[in-house]
Amino acid sequence: MRAMVLRSPTGLDRLALEERPDPGVPGAGEIRVSLHGSSLNFHDLGVATGRMPTADGRIPLADGAGVVDAVGAGVTEFRPGDGVVSCFFPDWQDGPPTVGDFRRTPGDGIDGFAQEHVVLPASAFTLVPRGYDAVEAATITTAGLTAWRALVVDGKLKAGDTVLLLGTGGVSIWALQIAKLMGATVAITSSSNEKLERARDLGADHVLNYREQPEWGRAISDWTGGRGVDHVIEVGGPGTLAQSIAAVRVGGHISLIGVLTGSAGEVPTAALMAKQARLQGLIVGSRREQQDFVRALDASGIRPVVDRRFPLAKLADAFRFEMDATHFGKIGVEW
Ligand SMILES: NC(=O)c1ccc[n+]([C@@H]2O[C@H](COP(=O)([O-])OP(=O)(O)OC[C@H]3O[C@@H](n4cnc5c(N)ncnc54)[C@H](OP(=O)(O)O)[C@@H]3O)[C@@H](O)[C@H]2O)c1
Repeated sequence: MRAMVLRSPTGLDRLALEERPDPGVPGAGEIRVSLHGSSLNFHDLGVATGRMPTADGRIPLADGAGVVDAVGAGVTEFRPGDGVVSCFFPDWQDGPPTVGDFRRTPGDGIDGFAQEHVVLPASAFTLVPRGYDAVEAATITTAGLTAWRALVVDGKLKAGDTVLLLGTGGVSIWALQIAKLMGATVAITSSSNEKLERARDLGADHVLNYREQPEWGRAISDWTGGRGVDHVIEVGGPGTLAQSIAAVRVGGHISLIGVLTGSAGEVPTAALMAKQARLQGLIVGSRREQQDFVRALDASGIRPVVDRRFPLAKLADAFRFEMDATHFGKIGVEW
């Protein structure tokens, strides 16, 4: 079978399709899956470019979706022919967080899903949302579940809440769709006015160009009549956190998710304290949360925004497209 493999020294021109042994038949508790789609995340880009070091010969991509070929002894949750999608943390099944690193994350510490077939424990997958193709389903593993957990599981979002989203990448556009589904009022920022128009078409109530308005924290607070927003999904990190603190309401919630502007920096601690805001780091979510998310998607009928799809053989080009940052929502890879 074919697999996309990343060779050391790492770089996009070190990605190539290779022949790998077929994974065979599933053992007890395992399923064999024919994979057909994935989607790109900033994390995958970090692995592929060497920003996040990985082993020589690693198969990249954390997101994977496909169809069950066969099930091993004792597997009752899935049947051959079922559509399944991978879990970002294959060992975190339920309950509070138990993982704080990427040692067991597919496409980073272990092989990922840029390959034709896998045999893995059934507990590393959930069913796909009804009607989703493989690329659409794959977008829930990382970006979708992160947005769901930040807003719904940990944020306890309710109708009428105000939400601030930064930029129009995969996590933020998933969050926009979830927040509108839940009856929230949403502000979103972007460096591109054209992308802001697309966000409006998806239901964004307020849009702001962060290049044209670098002091956007105050502007967002003013938009709420000076109250501040209930939730911020902070994908920027050190370069945006001070503005997010300015935008959040007293007692609000900031989900610290991303590192788009770097991995360390100053925090205006007194301003955060004065806001009495909850600043919470989080990484994706558990398998149980993914199952709940799939149920919500089945009930809602919303579909992810996939900007562009690339064949697996063009994975390096797909990453180059992500680096250009002209995309809106997710970038798909299919085979
Ligand atoms: N903790 C977690 O569980 C988790 C899960 C998924 C992702 N993440 C992190 O979240 C971040 C976003 O990931 P992603 O996969 O959604 O990335 P992505 O799809 O590559 O998103 C890139 C977009 O981010 C926006 N952006 C870049 N710099 C910005 C800034 N200074 N202010 C506001 N927006 C900015 C740009 O939007 P415009 O073009 O509209 O300006 C850009 O197109 C990354 O740091 C990623 O590592 C964390």
